[in-house]
Amino acid sequence: TVKPATGGNSEAAWAALREEAMGCTRCPLHRPATQTVFGEGPVDAALMFVGEQPGDQEDLAGRPFVGPAGQVFDAALAEAGIDRAGVYVTNAVKHFKFEQRGKRRIHAKPGVGEIDACRWWVEQERLLVRPRLTVALGATAARSLTGRTVTIGKERGRPIALADGTQGWITVHPSFLLRITDAAQAEDERARFVEDLRNAHALLQ
Ligand code: URA
Repeated sequence: TVKPATGGNSEAAWAALREEAMGCTRCPLHRPATQTVFGEGPVDAALMFVGEQPGDQEDLAGRPFVGPAGQVFDAALAEAGIDRAGVYVTNAVKHFKFEQRGKRRIHAKPGVGEIDACRWWVEQERLLVRPRLTVALGATAARSLTGRTVTIGKERGRPIALADGTQGWITVHPSFLLRITDAAQAEDERARFVEDLRNAHALLQ
């Protein structure tokens, strides 16, 4: 049989890496969480998205961006003309961090220690996938990608150079859009997010 151009080797390496991540104890977040939520998508994707951390639904499903933020993300991708099936989607932190309030699990922001502990996994994913462009969704992802604290408002919407010589791009996190209560402002910010995605994607053309 003829081997596909992107050999089965990286698929196997990815599967092994994911398997290893399932048992990760690099930080304490693995204890209360249901499971590691690893990245997913083609291992030869030119475009990678990095989110913050799995939410309640992602923690249960074991897949990134399948809950409310995922719906906003999917709709924005579609509007920007990006096929989610063709991109690699992962998170800066791979376990759900939450506070238990009665029966509800409330999202808690990952700290710098957790982001930096989990960075190892993002780096392994980036070494395997070798995306030409990596889009950070929000400050946690931007910290993970750059290793420094980033002000989204100052650095969004233009290419940045990453340490490995590839390009990065910073934009807001889809959950930010869900938190805006004013309808007109929410629509403006949503359109701006879509524009960021469209402009990032255009760098690959
Ligand atoms: N928010 C994220 O950053 N990642 C997910 O997977 C879901 C919500």
